[in-house]
Amino acid sequence: MNDPTSLTRRTFIAATGVAAATAATAQRRGRGVTPGQPLNPVVRRRADTQIFRHTDGNYYMTASVPEYDRLVLRRSRTLAGLATARETVLWRHLASGPLSGFIWAPELHRIDGRWIMYFAAGPSGGGEDVFRIRTYALVCDGPDPMTGRWRLLGQLTTPWDSFTLDSTSFVHRGVRYLLWAQKEPGIDTNSNLYLAPLKTPITLAAAPARLTVPTLDWEIRGFKVAEGATVLPRNGRLFMTYSASATDDRYCLGLLTCADDADIMQPSNWTKSPKPVFVSSDATSVYGPGHNSFTVDEQGRDVLVYHGRDYKAIKGDPLFDPNRDTRIQRIYYRADGTPDFGIPVGNGPLPYRMAPAGRSGAFLRLQGDRFVIGSGPLASTQIRQVPGKGGTIAFEPIERRGQRLCHDGAGRVVLARDDGTPGFAARSSFVAIGQGRDRQAYRLVGSGGLHLQAAGDEVRIARGMQGASFLLS
Ligand code: AHR
Repeated sequence: MNDPTSLTRRTFIAATGVAAATAATAQRRGRGVTPGQPLNPVVRRRADTQIFRHTDGNYYMTASVPEYDRLVLRRSRTLAGLATARETVLWRHLASGPLSGFIWAPELHRIDGRWIMYFAAGPSGGGEDVFRIRTYALVCDGPDPMTGRWRLLGQLTTPWDSFTLDSTSFVHRGVRYLLWAQKEPGIDTNSNLYLAPLKTPITLAAAPARLTVPTLDWEIRGFKVAEGATVLPRNGRLFMTYSASATDDRYCLGLLTCADDADIMQPSNWTKSPKPVFVSSDATSVYGPGHNSFTVDEQGRDVLVYHGRDYKAIKGDPLFDPNRDTRIQRIYYRADGTPDFGIPVGNGPLPYRMAPAGRSGAFLRLQGDRFVIGSGPLASTQIRQVPGKGGTIAFEPIERRGQRLCHDGAGRVVLARDDGTPGFAARSSFVAIGQGRDRQAYRLVGSGGLHLQAAGDEVRIARGMQGASFLLS
């Protein structure tokens, strides 16, 4: 058996040359690091991001810009394409008056055959309180939101003339609702969440229901905030995520859950998760993950869209730190049907879960410093396929940046830090071999037929294809 650790630099380069051809073929057939895979962050300096896949097959993306002075929109046939898609300015804040200052958190919706853009706006000073933020809507005059002309439809009317922001709309059981954040007179918080059916895009058909007030310790750090809510209807329930606390590394996602056949206007039908469901991660260097939306990937799988910074310390007011970047990651579901958001996966290609073919519920995962086959916290099963020379890939557990799955030369796999040497590359570079949709095998470069294999709960590198097929999800 060739011991791949004995590879010289020349041999390794030759091997990766062969690997390039094999990998190109493999990539055409399989998945893994293929061209067009989204990379995080998807778009730098775009916060409060809404991405949705419209019935026209396009992805639309809007978000807050650091200047808070305009409403922008991108369109792409693919999620990854949003990174480089042309960004159109639909509307700019006015020269004076109540819409001449901050422009926050737009959302694009198709309501009764018209494109409507909700957003929050405030005055630009001149004696006015720039945080006198209220919610407005624009309407497009034509079928194409990228090229149509947009005009102000008006201000959202609610029972209180107070700080109002982060509106989203959804249809549930044939009724269109608005869900938004607002400061309610008499309640000592910065914002609470409200829900009401709509009569028109900017008038409510009934008094709003107050769904949640931030009271838990993780909701009131820096500011008492519940905002940026959105709804994911799945598995007989409505899962409503919202963002809490100050917009620095303490910003996080909370979750309200309601049975989809319950009266969603009855606050007692919503159950609040006692802990946040998505928080900053030192392991993956993503901080302040929040103000999310939901979409689906090109295969129809649920995707979490959110913003986050890749550094923790912020100078000054976080609201004016421009580096909240748009990020995405796959959503997985627990056996009880609840979404498991795991942790923010960090910069780079989206990770996969790799299940040995035929072993449901078990994945290649990191247990301590060992790779095993089994089940455990989602993050321990998320493995990034890092592109290498000549179309090869290396496996990086998302919580161990810079460390790779390596062959120890004796058939076992170990976790080791990339030292940049050809020897390391030879021990950690694989060619992905497509075996049909979402199914791949991985041959160690230059090894003459050694493959990554699942053997019971163990992981090995051995000759042949037994246990060598993995299902990616
Ligand atoms: O990004 C501007 C505002 O900051 C958003 O409307 C809100 O979700 C966040 O607190």
